Amino acid sequence: MDARPNSPEARDIRYHLHAYTNARKHQETGPLVIEKGDGIYVEDIAGNRYIEAMAGLWSVAVGFSEKRLVEAATRQMSKLPFYHDFGSKAHSPLIDLAEKLVQMAPVPMSKAYFTNSGSEANDTAIKMIWYRSNALGQPARKKIISRKRGYHGVTIAAASLTGLPNNHLSFDLPIANILHTSTPHHWRDAEPGESEEQFSSRLADDLEKLILAEGPETIAAFIGEPIMGAGGVVVPPAGYWEKIQAVLSKYDILLVADEVICGFGRTGEMFGSQTFGIKPDIMVLSKQISSSYLPISALLINDKVFEPIADESDRIGTFGHGFTGGGHPVAAAVALENIKLIEERDLVGNARKVGAHLQARLRKLGSHPLVGEVRGVGLIAAVELVADKASKAPWGKPAALGALVNGLLQQNGVISRNMGDAIAFCPPLIITEAQVDALVDAFERSLDAALPQVRPQG
Ligand SMILES: Cc1ncc(COP(=O)(O)O)c(C=O)c1O
Repeated sequence: MDARPNSPEARDIRYHLHAYTNARKHQETGPLVIEKGDGIYVEDIAGNRYIEAMAGLWSVAVGFSEKRLVEAATRQMSKLPFYHDFGSKAHSPLIDLAEKLVQMAPVPMSKAYFTNSGSEANDTAIKMIWYRSNALGQPARKKIISRKRGYHGVTIAAASLTGLPNNHLSFDLPIANILHTSTPHHWRDAEPGESEEQFSSRLADDLEKLILAEGPETIAAFIGEPIMGAGGVVVPPAGYWEKIQAVLSKYDILLVADEVICGFGRTGEMFGSQTFGIKPDIMVLSKQISSSYLPISALLINDKVFEPIADESDRIGTFGHGFTGGGHPVAAAVALENIKLIEERDLVGNARKVGAHLQARLRKLGSHPLVGEVRGVGLIAAVELVADKASKAPWGKPAALGALVNGLLQQNGVISRNMGDAIAFCPPLIITEAQVDALVDAFERSLDAALPQVRPQG
């Protein structure tokens, strides 16, 4: 770290409280200051270049230097830099984007609603669901079922949906009416000899038991990511979504697919819902919708959700919900151009093809002494590290090995992220097979470098 008193690093320590960072430790270690981006690479202020193996925050589909997105933003900024959709106002980028998203949806959807982040979108989903229950004369139907290790954001309701301890501890969360059911992680949680299908059936039974214990008439919705992202890239086992949806239909419970990571090509289909046969009532979209060049998120809702909301807004006089920046014209213009690029360049096909290469290369590391499980679909993957393959035991404290390997990986020119002991890979959708090879080679070198520390006796 550059310790000069007025260096960017020193000023960052002095003035900036970071997201998802140990604030005390940061005062000693300081930041990694990223200066510019180019394709799948970013460069720090010292001129070191890295493969951005997380596409930023699972989000920069088209890479870090896409001129067409800059031009789309500039054009819209010059024409109409701000407008909103309160009180029946609209503007062209928003109308175009709403139409495009509803038409792209893999199941019949009725309307798009615009927000600025995944968290806001999930809070909005909860509010819509509650509003709908009241509209239907079912005021007791307010509980939402999420999953342990699910990630849905950090605002008060979205953080409550999130099933990770660090999002609840000392924040006095979760709020009431949010329940968490089991995580679909076969490798970690299956009984000895239990097949994926059997494990999925057990999880669907867990869900049904929870619904019956709480009273089916109190359960409004179930929310899940097609593949869990921040919970460690958990790919659902065979039959999981089919069995879960059968339980939800039985009790007339709405299904919200949080497509914030999976949406727009990540899994090798346009939406994760297509990859796993999910038929949601609400889809939550963000991140790759604009490649995160500007913040924008959206909800797609079907008629089952829209119609009662329309009636209730008519009864009250307005749908009393909206964000100043929701559907911002510049962000909407960038999202439209970004989706056009994903389609024109067949980045979904690339995620399938190059994703297959990534998955195959990572699976070859399965025999490495530190690798417990390799999992993923398309261009999203995780490698879970263990000190002992048979017992799946961690190296000392959980997350210590993940942090060690992630640090070594950064020294080897790859920015990734360890979620506990799982190292995630979620590169821009433009990545090539040769670039995947460079990424996995660097990962292999990092694993080998960690081995002597984990097993000092060899
Ligand atoms: C699946 C999922 N939902 C919601 C969110 C929250 O999005 P945001 O950080 O934009 O609030 C995230 C963020 O990573 C996410 O991965």
